[in-house]
Amino acid sequence: MPINVVLLGFGTVGESVYRTIASHQDGLRKILGTEIVVKGVLVKDARKPRNIASDVLVTTDFKKLLELPKIDAAIEAIVGVEPAYTYGVKFLNAGIPVITANKEMAAHKGEKLRREADANGTEFHFEAAVAGGIPIIAVLNQLLHANRVSKIEGILNGTSNFILSTMRGEGISFDEALKRAQRNGYAEADPSNDILGKDSFYKLMIISELVFGKQPEWKKVECTGINELSIKDFEEASAGGQRIKLVASIGKDEDGNITAAVEPQSLNETHPLYHVEGVDNGIVVHTDLLGRLFLQGPGAGGLPTASAILEDLTQHFQKNPNPKPFREASKVRAIH
Ligand code: NAP
Ligand code: HSE
Repeated sequence: MPINVVLLGFGTVGESVYRTIASHQDGLRKILGTEIVVKGVLVKDARKPRNIASDVLVTTDFKKLLELPKIDAAIEAIVGVEPAYTYGVKFLNAGIPVITANKEMAAHKGEKLRREADANGTEFHFEAAVAGGIPIIAVLNQLLHANRVSKIEGILNGTSNFILSTMRGEGISFDEALKRAQRNGYAEADPSNDILGKDSFYKLMIISELVFGKQPEWKKVECTGINELSIKDFEEASAGGQRIKLVASIGKDEDGNITAAVEPQSLNETHPLYHVEGVDNGIVVHTDLLGRLFLQGPGAGGLPTASAILEDLTQHFQKNPNPKPFREASKVRAIH
């Protein structure tokens, strides 16, 4: 039996997932012992031309997607908290695992969705929601159990790092650099979340839940973007041999309170994040046993994000080789 999936969203991420499932089908079949078949795609605008096989249901009606027979996983790559959260809950209620790239939704509702997944004997995955293709969620969730993490610092937004790097490296304007980031598929549909630091903030809150078991009070987290930087800031940084980076950091103070911030920082050459350029993200994890672990890789764009989603998908079905039979969403509530 194939593994049947549905895609919510067919933008930069959704389309890359669709194409990557096709281009990597042979390898996936070897790993999973069966093929992955995209059965349906949910979009917002039915009139947009799309290159999707004719036997795939393309719809703007979520109910039609949910009514497809035998769906084994839902891949969510739409924008914002709603309707993504409501759709996620409906799939989980039907016993269908949800894999998301949507960090805004995961930061707001991740904890609820994990509980919903547990209650229905399924799973909620969100590797693609943090730091693009870098497998930071797997590292924190699966590989650093014995270690006590004391602090994490990261460049978590590919768009703003691309803007800062290209402005400095090529001398182009902020607006031109942002346009390039949009053309490359790095920026959000509304790029204000990228440049105001909110996108980094959401990712930091997801990390906080994993590492410290909860999020800090949002209003106590300083969140400054790159939009307020002046020419003078850049000149001063380069005169001092420094580079300005949008750094998201989280740790605990002496009283055990979580402290977090997103802010531009001038970093010296000795700092590992100084060397993270372009669309790359970088994450420094400080732990008691390991010391300092540094991860770097592409933080945005279709392929790196599809990579994270496909890794979630393959890991899920390696762990759960026999997809559960589809349950109708309406019947599930009665069970609990
Ligand atoms: P995008 O290019 O703007 O695509 C969004 C897709 O979602 C479009 O296909 C759109 O439909 C569909 N959509 C939006 N609202 C919808 C709704 N209410 N109902 C049904 N479909 C809806 O965005 P993207 O860059 O692919 O990003 C998708 C998600 O992944 C976002 O949450 C983003 O934060 C996250 N993400 C993006 C990246 C990246 O590098 N781009 C990386 C990691 C995570 P139409 O095509 O009809 O407009
Ligand atoms: N807009 C986001 C970024 C996409 O630039 O980092 C990846 O989450």
